Amino acid sequence: MFITFEGGEGSGKSTAIKRIVKALEDMGHEVILTREPGGTPIGEQIRNVILDKANTAMDPRTEALLYAASRRQHLVEKIIPAIKEGKIVLCDRYLDSSLAYQGGARNLGIEEIYNVNLYATEGMQPDVTILFDIEPEEGLRRIAANAGREVNRLDVEKISFHHKVRESFKKVASMFPERFAVIDASKSPDEVFNDAFEAIKKAMK
Ligand code: TYD
Repeated sequence: MFITFEGGEGSGKSTAIKRIVKALEDMGHEVILTREPGGTPIGEQIRNVILDKANTAMDPRTEALLYAASRRQHLVEKIIPAIKEGKIVLCDRYLDSSLAYQGGARNLGIEEIYNVNLYATEGMQPDVTILFDIEPEEGLRRIAANAGREVNRLDVEKISFHHKVRESFKKVASMFPERFAVIDASKSPDEVFNDAFEAIKKAMK
């Protein structure tokens, strides 16, 4: 079983994932939690190129291809072997992040980025994808509250970007209704966990 988690900033995704790992383990499952580049040396090297602040000349398509390349390596080296060993693989962000961020918010086109990722993953889609959906203002407010700082001018300037990410995720969810569960992440942490876990249990039946 292959489960992925998606959403914008401040959605409470990480908190819910930790509880899901524990709940699945308590049910007796063997679980691995991973995220790209997943500690694979090649994936890490690719990721360093994406994140290097010196790479100001990075073209958006180059970035999209690098995300897909890092994903490929992580899939082959880590995800597929774990699934073959009978483990439940939980992955914090996978191809839908590229569809929403690069395809939608960065305007490269969801279809185009999907095609690139289809090649990278050979069509390996998750069995279930939990989308933590939240109003970007609320997500950023939570991040600011955590870091003990006010939302600054930069956060406010980028709010339109976060709105585009949110709308793109919703669009992607409507493209793949059979595997997506959209969770209202503005609810309490307990409710968000319960809704997400119910969706996973339903998919496991
Ligand atoms: P990070 O702080 O590691 O993750 P999170 O927001 O899940 O706590 O940041 C990951 C960032 O990378 C996030 O802003 C989304 C972005 N991203 C893409 O733009 N495309 C992708 O394919 C992936 C996997 C992530």
